[in-house]
Amino acid sequence: MTSTTLDTVAAVEAEARARLAEAADEAALEAWRLGVLGRSGSLTGVLRGLGALPEDERRAVGAAANIAKQALEAALDARREELRRAALGSMEALDVTLPGRPVRRGGLHPVTQVRREILDIFARLGFATVEGPEVELDEYNFGRLRIPEHHPARDMWDTFWFEREQATDPAMLLRTHTSPMQIRFIEQHEPPIRIAVPGRCYRYEATDATHEWMMQQIELLAVDEGLSMANLKGTLQEFARQMFGPERRVLMRNSYFPFVEPGVELSVDCFACPGNNPACPVCRGSGWIEIMGAGMVHPEIIEAAGFDPTRYTGFAAGMGVERVTMLKYGITDIRAFYSNDPRFLAQF
Ligand code: DAH
Repeated sequence: MTSTTLDTVAAVEAEARARLAEAADEAALEAWRLGVLGRSGSLTGVLRGLGALPEDERRAVGAAANIAKQALEAALDARREELRRAALGSMEALDVTLPGRPVRRGGLHPVTQVRREILDIFARLGFATVEGPEVELDEYNFGRLRIPEHHPARDMWDTFWFEREQATDPAMLLRTHTSPMQIRFIEQHEPPIRIAVPGRCYRYEATDATHEWMMQQIELLAVDEGLSMANLKGTLQEFARQMFGPERRVLMRNSYFPFVEPGVELSVDCFACPGNNPACPVCRGSGWIEIMGAGMVHPEIIEAAGFDPTRYTGFAAGMGVERVTMLKYGITDIRAFYSNDPRFLAQF
């Protein structure tokens, strides 16, 4: 007798659930509610019949019937929510009066912007842009630039070397400067030559506010009849004027690079301090920031390329693009460029 009544509760609940799954709109849900939970509903009938049961059975079946009632009420709410969502999904849920979402625009890296600007200036001065390999032969990075093995000038460039598989393999490295393209170009072209060579360079060295292990340079090379130091000076002064404006002061000092004679170093006055602050992270109190090395192409290099050095002369220069960018924007730490902080990069 007891099991039959518990079975009745289970059967009524199962039947109700099956019909609920078929109810597809609000009217059907209401009809279902009346048919199961209403005054003459199927479950209500079970609850009404409890009174006729003996005491102990009444307790067990009553508990089961109440649990079934709560479960069916919850099932009704769930089914109603399910139908609501299905209806929303098939509707055109688009409010054309809402303001549009802003499109996030990317921008060019500041060093890329300045590299292009520098190349544009030199293009107007007649220099064509050419590029060369980042993985270089020792011979081009050093040897043919008059920096032989064991020459102390090699210490100017801390080098990333490639391992050789066999002792007879040519020594290879990540270029430490863009100067090897001077040789590559002059070997294959006739004067007059006027080129600007942008590119990444690598140095095995500790980083600080003005040094990175990777940086970009732009190399200049001009070879022609009758070029003199005056042409070099005029070209670089014109560049500095266009790049930094007429108020920036430029200083040319005597320097040494094995591939030029004479060699100079071009500096601009410090933007980060009045020029006399020994704690200045940019100029360290010197008041000047070196942005490039330059000079007259060594006659041996012109001769080695097959040209008569008494007829042809040339000038060359190599500048750091990051340094020029720092000057232009007043950035005091070169490491900001490649640490990928969007808060820094988004300012340009
Ligand atoms: N290659 C040199 C460096 O990375 C810079 C340089 C100096 C380039 C003098 C030149 C030059 O073309 O004439 O330090």
